[in-house]
Amino acid sequence: MMRPALVASLLALGGCGRAQPVSFQPPPGAPTGRETLHQPAKLTSVESDQKDALGRPLRVSCESCHSLRETKPMPSRPEELKEFHQGLRFRHGELACTSCHQAQQPRTLHLATGEPLPMTEVVTLCAQCHGPQYRDFKAGAHGGMTGYWDLSRGDRTRNNCVSCHDPHTPKYAGAHPVMPPRNPPAHGEPDTKEATGHE
Ligand code: HEC
Ligand code: HEC
Ligand code: HEC
Ligand code: HEC
Repeated sequence: MMRPALVASLLALGGCGRAQPVSFQPPPGAPTGRETLHQPAKLTSVESDQKDALGRPLRVSCESCHSLRETKPMPSRPEELKEFHQGLRFRHGELACTSCHQAQQPRTLHLATGEPLPMTEVVTLCAQCHGPQYRDFKAGAHGGMTGYWDLSRGDRTRNNCVSCHDPHTPKYAGAHPVMPPRNPPAHGEPDTKEATGHE
């Protein structure tokens, strides 16, 4: 037995011969939301081998060591780092370490003009050499974001270039599928197959 209210609404739908007009979202209002840039922790700290209570690596700020050390000139090769930061890999065109780091203040970056740039403004540095990607980034076509496209509905946070690209080895590593697709066991058969990744 159909309930009378449902019958009435079905009749109303059919009655006019055409579907009711769809109601659209209102057009975007004034862009009241803010756009911020994500600042990855690695711009101001490094991972330590200690873990916190949740098993996440504890981070140590650059300052906690470097404020105690005399500033040394920038090394010219990663192998020169022996006391700390060992094993840094570098593959970025034909760039020198000092193409980005200031020679005498290595924890500060610099633009092509020599103008100093704090680590936290690294995107401006990348943009100087990678104009097309930066143009696409500003247009929202490279690099992604979280939050709202429509700033009248909320804020957005853009990803930083170094969220995805290591400045020292910027080639995007890509991704591999991890598990092969797996068929459910046939009816009545026990599920003995293991997802080994070699099927
Ligand atoms: C646990 C201590 C520690 C932390 C944390 C640390 N550093 Fe260092 N850093 C060192 C030591 C020690 C050296 C010298 C390594 C060598 O010459 O063998 C060094 C060297 C460097 C150098 C080469 C120039 C110089 O002054 O010797 C740069 C650049 C640098 N660090 C940047 C950073 C940045 C950026 C961070 C944070 C993202 C950071 N460091 C965090 C200890 C630290
Ligand atoms: C394209 C710009 C660029 C070049 C070229 C570059 N760096 Fe860096 N470097 C950065 C940025 C940005 C950071 C901070 C973010 C990070 O560590 O990912 C950094 C951080 C560091 C750190 C501290 C944290 C870490 O990553 O271990 C060291 C040490 C360092 N650089 C050494 C070097 C050496 C040595 C070279 C040359 C072999 C070099 N860099 C070349 C941009 C650059
Ligand atoms: C001084 C100029 C300069 C700066 C600053 C610079 N790059 Fe580069 N980048 C280059 C050159 C040159 C290449 C090599 C191009 C080639 O081989 O065709 C390159 C290559 C790359 C590649 C492609 C790597 C590959 O092997 O496919 C990426 C990604 C990249 N850079 C990202 C960045 C990011 C992110 C920053 C900021 C941290 C940055 N670059 C800063 C000059 C620069
Ligand atoms: C969300 C991750 C992400 C962010 C953020 C990001 N990129 Fe990329 N970028 C990629 C991926 C993925 C590729 C590789 C595309 C491919 O291999 O086809 C790439 C490729 C590149 C390349 C190599 C040339 C090309 O177009 O394939 C350059 C240069 C580059 N990015 C620069 C930048 C700069 C500069 C920024 C910041 C303004 C940035 N990227 C932000 C993911 C990102």
